[in-house]
Amino acid sequence: MKLAEPSASNSVAPAAALYAMRRDPLAFFKNLAHEGDIVRFSLGDHPHDLYFLNHPDYIREVLVTQDKNFSKWFSVERIKEVLGNGLFVSEGEYHHRQRRLAQPAFHRERIAGYADQMVDYAGRVRDRWQPNEIVDVCREMNWLAMMIVANTLFGANVESEAGQIRDALSEILDQFERSILPEADREDFESAMNRLDSVIYSMIQARRSTNEDRGDLLSMLLLAEDQESDTGKMNDQQVRDEAMTIFLAGHETSANALSWSWYLLSQHSEVEAQFHDEIDRVLSGRTAQVRDVTELGLTAGVFAEALRLYPPVWAMGRRAIGPCQIGDQSVAAGSVVIMSQYVTHRDSRWFENPDAFDPRRWATEARAARPRFSYFPFSAGSRACLGEAFAGMEGVLCLATLAQKWKLRLVTQHVVKLQPQLTLRARHGIKMRVEQRV
Ligand code: HEM
Repeated sequence: MKLAEPSASNSVAPAAALYAMRRDPLAFFKNLAHEGDIVRFSLGDHPHDLYFLNHPDYIREVLVTQDKNFSKWFSVERIKEVLGNGLFVSEGEYHHRQRRLAQPAFHRERIAGYADQMVDYAGRVRDRWQPNEIVDVCREMNWLAMMIVANTLFGANVESEAGQIRDALSEILDQFERSILPEADREDFESAMNRLDSVIYSMIQARRSTNEDRGDLLSMLLLAEDQESDTGKMNDQQVRDEAMTIFLAGHETSANALSWSWYLLSQHSEVEAQFHDEIDRVLSGRTAQVRDVTELGLTAGVFAEALRLYPPVWAMGRRAIGPCQIGDQSVAAGSVVIMSQYVTHRDSRWFENPDAFDPRRWATEARAARPRFSYFPFSAGSRACLGEAFAGMEGVLCLATLAQKWKLRLVTQHVVKLQPQLTLRARHGIKMRVEQRV
């Protein structure tokens, strides 16, 4: 294991490092990784030490072994204005309690019950597409993932608001990117926030007015509110924060992963042909069901490989609460450690020919031969993604259902550019032509 300390990056002036990171954060972190597995660096006037970690053992230390010594750290503080003190942001005992509360909605058996709704919505996209139509696949997958999360977890149909929600979220994500610049416009941010709030509040209102316990996530949140209101533990704002968090975290990420899957398939016709064979063999033209998920191994591999090459959450930060040791490095209290899925997932020590798209990497033996934390698209430990199993099933069922009828081809003049915002989006979307398979 290489340890670079102090690293050459320290010789880069903190202001220059800040500039380089803002201009191209993926390249910036990739360059740090070239210097070692734990690299100290400075950034602008950031008052504490920062470390970039690029070794599975170190990632395990932070996310699992020493997780109690780390709190979450956000490069964009404004994220808290959007998500409030919901699951993504909250800490300690409160986080633990809220997570326990939401957890039943994500149990395996419960998730299995969402399969039909997932397939149903994917089927609607499949039936809406026309031969040779050109679509922005990011927009399409955004719609699909949004409908799925709204229906399965909130029992809400947000079809008429979908465009508005998408635009509001894009405005907010763009603002995060620009928020370091003086022209960041507070008014636009607030208006986008209000639009999202009104969607979430109307879901809450609609459920309250029926007083019905539908056994879904929204009912769980509202029930907890009622039961605990006299202890003052769960109020309106808290329900809103949890609902907003799960609504946004539950569709922005999945939509990106699906979009990148289509892009990758379009660039690898051999894999694409095997993927089609699998789907035709397993489904024989019928509607996909939950029991098919385990049979669609290559399809799952396509999705896992998209998450490896284009991880929707492409970097995460944590702050050390007390001093600690990572490998040979003493890390002072207050230091920030950054791990990047994008960088570690493309490390040739763990993935041969790392930039190549190869779903066979996800066969059981190949997978077992790699260190566990060489791949962490859903993070791990006490702050791991709550929706991992949900997203895995959604990915397989949506890919299979759409590919029963269509294959997607990149529009030749369309340049696909990465946009590492809070999630890893494609800067100008991904324009693809819809071609009929059967
Ligand atoms: C491919 C899709 C997805 C990816 C790649 C993904 C990735 C992640 C990652 C990396 C984190 C941890 C972030 C951090 O610690 O800074 C996270 C947290 C979270 N995700 Fe996901 N996610 C996905 C889908 C979903 C879905 C479908 C849901 C819900 C329906 C969801 C709900 C959450 C929640 C609530 C958290 C916060 C958990 C906590 O801190 O306790 N995610 N996700």
